[in-house]
Amino acid sequence: MNYFERHIFFCTNQRDNGERACAQFDANALLETCKVAVKTGDLAGPGKVRVSKAGCLGRCAGGPVAVVYPESTWYSFVDRDDVLEVVEEHLRHGRVVERLVLPDSVGV
Ligand code: FES
Repeated sequence: MNYFERHIFFCTNQRDNGERACAQFDANALLETCKVAVKTGDLAGPGKVRVSKAGCLGRCAGGPVAVVYPESTWYSFVDRDDVLEVVEEHLRHGRVVERLVLPDSVGV
């Protein structure tokens, strides 16, 4: 058994050289939205869900991005509602939110 049933990592990387980075697209606010929703939804903790902040995950062109393990499902978000949908559908019920899945072709 995994210590956490699911673990979501949010890229919050920031760049000062003008290159695209997830922090430009409210990644920190989206991370906070996820943390609050997981906590208030009674999803946080061992055997359940962990939300973590990450540096660059190497898929900057799709930012803001997050990845959910153990499924290795990559998501690209537009807004808070997208994050809340992933929390309810994927993190709670294990159902991938197909409309938000980052295509394999999107990289740096
Ligand atoms: S800056 Fe977010 S994936 Fe690279």
